[in-house]
Amino acid sequence: LGQRHGLYVGTAVDMAALADPAEPRYREIVRDEFSTVTAENVMKWESLEPTRGSYDWSAADELVATARRNGQKVRGHVLVWHSQLPKWLTDGVADGSIDNTELRSILRRHITTVASRYRGKIWQWDVVNEAVSDPWDTPSTLHYKGFWAEHLGPGYVADAFRWARAADPTALLFYNDYNIEAFGSGDPANDKTQFVYDMVKGLLARGVPIDGVGSQGHLGTQYGNYDTLQVSDALHRFAGLGLSTAFTEVDVRSRLTDGVQAGDSEEINPRLQASAANFHVLLQACLAEPRCLSFTVWGFTDRHSWVPGTFDDPPQGLATIYDENYQPKRSYQLMKADL
Ligand code: XIL
Repeated sequence: LGQRHGLYVGTAVDMAALADPAEPRYREIVRDEFSTVTAENVMKWESLEPTRGSYDWSAADELVATARRNGQKVRGHVLVWHSQLPKWLTDGVADGSIDNTELRSILRRHITTVASRYRGKIWQWDVVNEAVSDPWDTPSTLHYKGFWAEHLGPGYVADAFRWARAADPTALLFYNDYNIEAFGSGDPANDKTQFVYDMVKGLLARGVPIDGVGSQGHLGTQYGNYDTLQVSDALHRFAGLGLSTAFTEVDVRSRLTDGVQAGDSEEINPRLQASAANFHVLLQACLAEPRCLSFTVWGFTDRHSWVPGTFDDPPQGLATIYDENYQPKRSYQLMKADL
């Protein structure tokens, strides 16, 4: 159905579930319902290089091989991020045994090693992930946040894109972040989408090789809903810079308090209807923008979703398009109707 619009429809893949003999439905749905896949964890630095100097490619290679067998494109996730870094790296920086000059060369080597290994096999790379703070952080004025900015300064972003391009000239290089679905959804003077827009515009002006902006799309029904126009406007403005866009990690969680519990009927529970409606809004916006290349969900079943293990105060869940028993939900039906 996506093909009719030139749109790829994807999911993050949990490699443990994919390999589990007791989970045939997981494998079938990955194979049959999606035209692009993303490694949920196995291409992250802590997974690839748990011990300094020795890379373990097994799970990442398996994902790429599976995608090839299934005729699917791969989104590479992720070359540079402040989270899920190997302990040897963060410890080395903390105890002073790795100084900032060495850190920069370690980063360069990592990007070069990983992007070269999969050269020609990755459709879109998330080169830099979540470099920008949120209005609810301290200080609330938007800034470059996290490990890499703290040690190398904001210049690491441009460096990362240049190193990635050199290692894999055919992959589309993306900046990826959350809370950038729309402009002006919060304080106009402190608008994260605008900050990211200005950042990528500045990178392009300096000739930095960036091809796209990925909007993760982690939403929650406890927050206000977007409408299609707001979201398509944001995609359109990024496209106006000459960039592609994509939704890269869509899920819409609900608080399992607030009158929602596992097993509730989607037909009558307004929170669950809101979850489905948010998938629909993001997908409609993407369909309305020719340069929105793909729509990827961050896991497709509540049986294997990062939400319950991550958002537990209060407990949250029910964020995906199939329930825990692999029954398609209202969100799945709406997406299908959209396409
Ligand atoms: C999450 C995974 O889903 C979890 O399994 C892992 O424990 C933590 O990371 N933004 C991203 C993703 O870019 O890499 C994150 O994935 C979710 C938020």
